[in-house]
Amino acid sequence: VEPSEISAGILQWYEKFKRDLPWRKTTDPYKIWLSEIILQQTRVNQGLPYYHKFTELFPDIYALSAASEKEVLKAWEGLGYYSRARNLHQCAKIICEKHGGFFPNSYQKLLDLPGIGPYTAAAIASFCYNEPVAVVDGNVFRVLARLYAIDADIRVSQKLFREIAQQLIPHDTPGTFNQAIMEFGALQCTPQSPDCGSCPLQVHCLARKAGKQDRYPVKSPA
Ligand code: ADE
Ligand code: SF4
Repeated sequence: VEPSEISAGILQWYEKFKRDLPWRKTTDPYKIWLSEIILQQTRVNQGLPYYHKFTELFPDIYALSAASEKEVLKAWEGLGYYSRARNLHQCAKIICEKHGGFFPNSYQKLLDLPGIGPYTAAAIASFCYNEPVAVVDGNVFRVLARLYAIDADIRVSQKLFREIAQQLIPHDTPGTFNQAIMEFGALQCTPQSPDCGSCPLQVHCLARKAGKQDRYPVKSPA
């Protein structure tokens, strides 16, 4: 199957079923970054009020960098994983002090910042700068494992999954595609009992064809 058939199917599904989420209406790297750090270990519904709170309390990177750590941690209260909040604040200071308040404008340069790993760098670079670099989060991992019936555990195959995602990403709309495949995993190709009967990719999906969609992704004992 041509990668473009799969990616077109995901994009069409997305245009029909995507949720209306505030960070999808902006290309401001500050807001994209904020949303992605909040959503790292947090569900969308739980993260939404924090996204609104942070963008109101700290409307731009200078406001965030000028806040005290105590204020930032206070605003973060309830989200857990407090190292995210400390990194957030530290990263804001570095961007203001060393980058003139501007986010680095490429995947590679973004990786140098604290708290920004391959996932977050790919999200910012693709959503804000249209750089064709694939995001691989838990949702993307599950979708790919099922579509291609991949038996490997992600903990040993990060590179394989990134390469497959990288082949699927359309170069004209990389950011939209990244949003689309994550949303597809969150809403259609769900962790438990995906509704394959309504899935536009069912004719391409190797796990579904074998009736084994519930067996992917494979989690070998740690
Ligand atoms: N989870 C992580 N990033 C997300 C995004 N951009 N939209 C929806 N859910 C997400
Ligand atoms: Fe996921 Fe089922 Fe669609 Fe395959 S057919 S991509 S398992 S929802």
